[in-house]
Amino acid sequence: MDAPRHFLDIDRLDEATLRHILDWAAALKRGDSPDGDARPLAGRTLAMIFEKPSTRTRVSFEVGMQQLGGHVVVLSETNTQLGRGETVADTARVLSRYVDVIMIRTDDPERLDELAAHATVPVINGLTDRSHPCQVMADVMTFEEHRGPIAGRVVAWSGDGNNVAASWIHAAVRFRFTLRLACPEPFGPPPALLDWAKAEGGDVTLVRHAAEAVAGADCVVTDVWVSMGNEDAETRHRLLAPYRVDEALMARAADGAVFMHCLPAHRGEEVTGAVIDGPRSAVWDEAENRLHAQKGILAWCLG
Ligand code: CP
Ligand code: NVA
Repeated sequence: MDAPRHFLDIDRLDEATLRHILDWAAALKRGDSPDGDARPLAGRTLAMIFEKPSTRTRVSFEVGMQQLGGHVVVLSETNTQLGRGETVADTARVLSRYVDVIMIRTDDPERLDELAAHATVPVINGLTDRSHPCQVMADVMTFEEHRGPIAGRVVAWSGDGNNVAASWIHAAVRFRFTLRLACPEPFGPPPALLDWAKAEGGDVTLVRHAAEAVAGADCVVTDVWVSMGNEDAETRHRLLAPYRVDEALMARAADGAVFMHCLPAHRGEEVTGAVIDGPRSAVWDEAENRLHAQKGILAWCLG
């Protein structure tokens, strides 16, 4: 039996595969079906495990699977035996006998890896504390809809070097664009991740000042200062305040630069209302593209 096609992180797939997924996503968004079958996942079932809250991921995966002809089962830690200590490995073995693909949102990335190691069906990363690859696939798709091919372009990240930033680093290397991250000292991305990007020949730099990162950028991205599970909110608010994306910061970006944010957003914290609700914001297209990008991911995982 062939190994399942897991979608665990952008760095674990090659550029051709990632591009293939985005091409499928774009075709499905246009209403074309790449293989001529309007319901290619008819009879297939997706199980989704949520150990953290979600609006977009939950709804876009459920609607996407239905649009492809399939079914969805939604599980949480509290309504399954996972919450009473059944192992992730045993859960993976059992779910693999019932469903065709599993998505998990969890805090510890080791739980994702354990699920993938023991499942005999594809596993999709719906966010961990380490990364959020489905989000950044949708983000790359959104950038390209607004600004054309992302290769060789400049993306600036201003704020917390969190899970979403990590997937942007993976994407910068695989899709060959420049990524400049501005983060305060304690909240930068993991040094090992920056070393990986360098070793892979990526153009990823970490700077201290938001203005430096954003200068001439084609896209400015940020995310919440306090991610799910973070407990040091007061420190984060104090140290991340200089990284807020406001109109003055956006004015330093290239003409036509877009603003992106994975949502949910906190207006007046990481971004001002004038920017997120302004003419350069692509956040609603970005949220919509979660649906299309994940349909591409599901179609690829299930062959
Ligand atoms: N951006 C994102 O993943 O949103 P949810 O937490 O609502 O799924
Ligand atoms: N960084 C955020 C993303 C939410 C979609 C978090 O992990 O809470």
